[in-house]
Amino acid sequence: MAQNPAHSVADSPKTPFDISLRPPLFSEFAGQEKVCQRLEVMVQAVQERQDVLDHILLSGPPGLGKTTLAYILSNAMQVNIKSTSGPMIEKAGDLAGLLTTLERGDILFIDEIHRLQPAIEEYLYPAMEDFKLDILIDQGPNARSVRLNLPKFTLLGATTRAGMISSPLRSRFGMHARLDYYTAEELQRVLLRSAALLQITIDPPGALEIAARSRGTPRIANNLLRWVRDFAQVRAGNKITREVADAALAMLDIDADGLDEMDKRILETLIYKFEGGPVGLNSLAVAIGEDSGTLEDVNEPYLIMQGYVKRTPQGRVALSPAYKKIGAPLKTRSGELFS
Ligand SMILES: Nc1ncnc2c1ncn2[C@@H]1O[C@H](COP(=O)(O)OP(=O)(O)O)[C@@H](O)[C@H]1O
Ligand SMILES: [Mg+2]
Repeated sequence: MAQNPAHSVADSPKTPFDISLRPPLFSEFAGQEKVCQRLEVMVQAVQERQDVLDHILLSGPPGLGKTTLAYILSNAMQVNIKSTSGPMIEKAGDLAGLLTTLERGDILFIDEIHRLQPAIEEYLYPAMEDFKLDILIDQGPNARSVRLNLPKFTLLGATTRAGMISSPLRSRFGMHARLDYYTAEELQRVLLRSAALLQITIDPPGALEIAARSRGTPRIANNLLRWVRDFAQVRAGNKITREVADAALAMLDIDADGLDEMDKRILETLIYKFEGGPVGLNSLAVAIGEDSGTLEDVNEPYLIMQGYVKRTPQGRVALSPAYKKIGAPLKTRSGELFS
């Protein structure tokens, strides 16, 4: 069997390991059925009319497949895709440079679109709506505004924070597709596909064991598969079964519910340092030494979805599964214990 050359550089998200695992077609994309069906209808209708896809906003936590869907859409439409991200567009000129290279039907993919500067957003509105761009040429007394006509293009925006997108921008997207966490069975399918591509021997229960501990996230599932593969190679004759997956993940301190050390630290801090809350996001972030944006986007959504933590107007509150998870006695607000 050939060695997988991507293996040694598999840490960055843009490595061949990752790219080769990105499903290129809707038919290979597991889960998110409603979103996929809607997008497929759009693609077919637009192709029949020989038209251009409407602007689409993709939102959801990191690693659920937003970028993958953008590439699947460009594949299905057979158009070029230009990829950038909100923070990379610093000046109006950067945006103009991107927009003026597009051909009819092309996709401009803006990742982290919630991080666009407001001034850049203003330029985007007429480009999205009327396919026109007003740019300022020269400075001082010679300054004048020139209107450029753009070809009809598709803006694909991706964001982990749909709530942070201004309503004028949001309203210019014809479709807003929200991605949700995957079920263990859907992730099992992702893993079996990845394992086949990487020529890893794994049985379905082994894949399900990894799936159940992947926080509903395909990117995490693929990362854990890589680790379990290493473990199986060194300790278990290169075959991943349920027992092998369990032993490998235990070694990473990932528990049966998929919580890792960071999650447990969040729950412990919330319960022991802040008496279960409510505590503001920033205080919690400082106490655990994490950036509040990361905490809010990466760790918290899964803890909330699983019912460990609740967001309230006063701040974050630990719920009873959180006390059970870290083995702390349950307390009511007034301080007495309850069972
Ligand atoms: N539905 C899916 N089926 C199979 N693999 C997926 C799916 N969604 C995501 N992946 C895998 O997970 C990785 C992360 O997905 P990505 O599109 O980069 O997420 P996002 O852009 O939402 O952060 C991809 O490289 C791909 O291998
Ligand atoms: Mg992405």
